[in-house]
Amino acid sequence: MKAAVFFQPGGPEQIQIAEVPRPDVGPDQVLIEVKACALNHFDLLVLREANPDSTVFPFWGGADIAGIIAEVGSSVAKFKNGDRVTVNPSLYCGDCEHCIGGQESQCDDYGITGDSIPGGMAEFISVNARDVMLLPETLSFEEAAAAPLVYQTAWRALMSQAQIRAGEDVLILGASGGVGSASIQIAKLAGANVIAVTSSTEKEAYARQMGADHVLNRTKGDYWSELAALTNNRGVDVVVENTGAATWSDSLESLVKGGRLVTYGRTTGSIAETDIRLIFWHHLRIIGSTMANRKEFAQVMRLIFKGKLKPVVDSVYPLQQAGRAYQHLLNGEHFGKVVISMEAE
Ligand SMILES: NC(=O)c1ccc[n+]([C@@H]2O[C@H](COP(=O)([O-])OP(=O)(O)OC[C@H]3O[C@@H](n4cnc5c(N)ncnc54)[C@H](OP(=O)(O)O)[C@@H]3O)[C@@H](O)[C@H]2O)c1
Ligand SMILES: [Zn+2]
Repeated sequence: MKAAVFFQPGGPEQIQIAEVPRPDVGPDQVLIEVKACALNHFDLLVLREANPDSTVFPFWGGADIAGIIAEVGSSVAKFKNGDRVTVNPSLYCGDCEHCIGGQESQCDDYGITGDSIPGGMAEFISVNARDVMLLPETLSFEEAAAAPLVYQTAWRALMSQAQIRAGEDVLILGASGGVGSASIQIAKLAGANVIAVTSSTEKEAYARQMGADHVLNRTKGDYWSELAALTNNRGVDVVVENTGAATWSDSLESLVKGGRLVTYGRTTGSIAETDIRLIFWHHLRIIGSTMANRKEFAQVMRLIFKGKLKPVVDSVYPLQQAGRAYQHLLNGEHFGKVVISMEAE
């Protein structure tokens, strides 16, 4: 089968199309003929940070998969060939204390498809049947692929970890990103007042279209002062942090006393300075979050299936142009998701 592989760590120039073996199907697995696979910032990290000592090359990424079932493992009764499906990319043991407690994304052996194992940027992939969900006919493969990783991340971060409430001021950084655009929709659904930060006039318009109540442009002047003015110097209740080092201290300073910062990303770097006085004097809470548990995944996917949340597809590339798709994401010009479609020309 064909896959968009790389043979060494680096940038998008490393991506090439190669023939690789079609995966075997275990008794508890299904083989999926991939129809669409969305890129995440994560794929750029996997490509850039692949450890040559532990990675088996060629390797291929892709956590977000939608397709049809092509083969069913001997112990799987729930699915049949031809079913339209998507997959939770979380890999977890099911046996450790965290899995038993229903917190699969805290698993002692946690991994993500497209990092711990080769991903969906290929014609076929074998996945555990327990992580597969049937798709409604109303959702295209491209839209379905745009959902799993970013919506579960945004759902857990905002709803379970930061526990945002109706009427709260919620600041969303990196608003045009995959998780950022999902966060705008989820925060609106929860009744929050959403302030989105993005980087171009075009993206400002998209963020408003998504439902953001206020949009700040980080490339135009001092947006932190604009934010302070917007809240009458009160500060925001919640910051959705994913941009990392470049914004960390300002994010903490922008919070109201008793405010919460939820973090799940480090787009601009992972080492930042924290003024500890702010934390205790302002009674702040810094909350970490990664991916989601199975229950949260099912909850947010149901909202997508019902049309309450709408995956945002920025652009669609054929597999042959996977390298260009990586480059497009790296350039940061997207709003929402960059998707590879096996059916695109
Ligand atoms: N822990 C987890 O479970 C988890 C899951 C998913 C993602 N993540 C992490 O979360 C982050 C976002 O992921 P994603 O896939 O949504 O990424 P993405 O689609 O690539 O979006 C990242 C966004 O960050 C903003 N940005 C880039 N450079 C910036 C800078 N210098 N200053 C401020 N903002 C900047 C841009 O938005 P604007 O142009 O709108 O400003 C960009 O669109 C990544 O760090 C990723 O690794 C973590
Ligand atoms: Zn576990």
